[in-house]
Amino acid sequence: MTRKKILAICGSTRNNSTNHRLIKAISQRFADRVDLVPFNEIGTIPVFYPGIPPEEHPPQVLAFRQHIKNADAVLICTPEYAHGVPGALKNAIDWTVSSGEFSQKITALITASTDGRFGHAALLETLKVIECKNISELHLIISFIQTRLNTEDDFTDEKTRNDVEALMNALLLTINTG
Ligand SMILES: Cc1cc2nc3c(=O)[nH]c(=O)nc-3n(C[C@H](O)[C@H](O)[C@H](O)COP(=O)(O)O)c2cc1C
Repeated sequence: MTRKKILAICGSTRNNSTNHRLIKAISQRFADRVDLVPFNEIGTIPVFYPGIPPEEHPPQVLAFRQHIKNADAVLICTPEYAHGVPGALKNAIDWTVSSGEFSQKITALITASTDGRFGHAALLETLKVIECKNISELHLIISFIQTRLNTEDDFTDEKTRNDVEALMNALLLTINTG
């Protein structure tokens, strides 16, 4: 059986982002079961402009859409900014609304932030309306993310480790059973 591929989109554009490190931690922990393909380029995607004809869509957008298409599932790990979704992440998702790459794509969301509740609810609603598959069951908030990872990019506490494992097991089960 070919190994499944999960596109792991980081919602932070910051160097040494905790969300980037979270993706690394998950990737290491699940290395024997699945390939996580990190996507850290949302900051390079131009501002969404609905007036551009499809044949003139920017190459960064085409590449982003292709990455989603090529993956068996998508995992989004993101902070919350000012009680909302980081602009770069929402901007990238907006480019896929008409082309429909997220429609029926198995998608999981982790909001890893200081708090995260507001951005999480807003992004969850967006992911539902663009028809991500099983999103209602595949989401998690990790609050105080700055204290949850050690210098080896592993989890510092058992609850976070268990929560992430439960989410990833559910995601893998969904991928393997359709
Ligand atoms: C502009 C800005 C606004 C923020 N607003 C929030 C917020 O509303 N809620 C929250 O939980 N954290 C907020 N934070 C803190 C982030 O959760 C924290 O910096 C987090 O580590 C960012 O994720 P990253 O490490 O992956 O970049 C904010 C950070 C920035 C830079």
